[in-house]
Amino acid sequence: MRVLVTGGAGFVMSNVVRALLSGSTDTRAVVLDLGGRDEAAAEFVAPFAHRIDWVGGDIRDESVVERAFSFGEVTHVVHGATLTHFEGWEREDPGRFMDVNVMGTIRLLERARRSAGLERFVYVSSGAVYGEPVAGTPSGPQPETGPFDLPEMYAISKFAAEMVARRYGELFGLDVVRVRFSGVFGPMERRTGARCLMSAAYHMVRAHLERRPLRVTQGTLAAGGDFLSSEEVGEGVAALLRAPRCAHRAYNIAAGEFQSMKELFEAFRSAAPGFEIEVADESRAEVTMNPEDRLARWNAYAIDRMRQDTGWSPRPLAEQMARYLGWVEKDPERRCPQLD
Ligand SMILES: NC(=O)c1ccc[n+]([C@@H]2O[C@H](COP(=O)([O-])OP(=O)(O)OC[C@H]3O[C@@H](n4cnc5c(N)ncnc54)[C@H](O)[C@@H]3O)[C@@H](O)[C@H]2O)c1
Repeated sequence: MRVLVTGGAGFVMSNVVRALLSGSTDTRAVVLDLGGRDEAAAEFVAPFAHRIDWVGGDIRDESVVERAFSFGEVTHVVHGATLTHFEGWEREDPGRFMDVNVMGTIRLLERARRSAGLERFVYVSSGAVYGEPVAGTPSGPQPETGPFDLPEMYAISKFAAEMVARRYGELFGLDVVRVRFSGVFGPMERRTGARCLMSAAYHMVRAHLERRPLRVTQGTLAAGGDFLSSEEVGEGVAALLRAPRCAHRAYNIAAGEFQSMKELFEAFRSAAPGFEIEVADESRAEVTMNPEDRLARWNAYAIDRMRQDTGWSPRPLAEQMARYLGWVEKDPERRCPQLD
């Protein structure tokens, strides 16, 4: 199997590359990313370096995409290259979200549909497409069937790209599957040119490294969400790629249960004894969450489809946290640097 992973030098997708290559010695990967063979990503997948081809360039550039298909027959694609949400970038250039996230997806699908050996195309989307609660939003775990609500350019462009990918599948008889992640933390979380908002877990690890309490707002203590380590996500995507048959066209990859921030702090404390939190006002807090954000994209996401069709299920949260911390502690200042 030869898998093209776009955005493969980034946070979550580098975990996908690692999970795919560690799972089978017969698998090769082509990693397409803006910066190409990024140092941190190359180190992360170093045990499998001999089975990786790197392509640097923009997903919207036809010649870059062509090169990604030039190493041999691509049997699978995981398309994760994206501009992620940040309001500042929306104000600066709203159209860039459509350009990168939708037109980039079209560019890739155009090439993929002419690849005779293509077996499955996975489009990486986000729980952001569930947006804010609307009529019909369930109080139980959020299922893949919606309802949908698209508040920001990021969600709008991710949902549009999902529909484009679905239509390509119908028009050209491709096995196109869409995956939606919840809130990801874990190994390789860092700022890229396409991502700047860090997870609460990142700030927790950073505070622990500095041996000081994590500053959170009062409201954060009553908030929560669905949090999953990038390692689990990587393994989930790999499982989906290898599943003999996907009965559905969309899958949530998530914890599957609502985790309160208090639970998250406790889970981390079991790996990092002495970790403390301190309530601070919004101007000083590192983590600010709204306890009223509880449903739709803020809810737990149902993962029955993933469990049934792939057998995948996530490790316990405390174990995910311990693995993340263990990874950071091998090179703390590079793996979890202080943010400006
Ligand atoms: N991090 C999360 O919590 C989360 C949640 C839901 C979904 N996702 C999805 O996971 C995927 C990866 O996101 P991430 O959080 O790891 O962000 P990331 O910024 O670390 O990864 C995105 C990668 O895409 C690359 N990229 C951006 N524009 C590109 C372009 N035009 N051409 C080529 N490469 C380009 C970037 O260089 C980067 O390495 C995205 O599709 C995102 O929507 C992430």
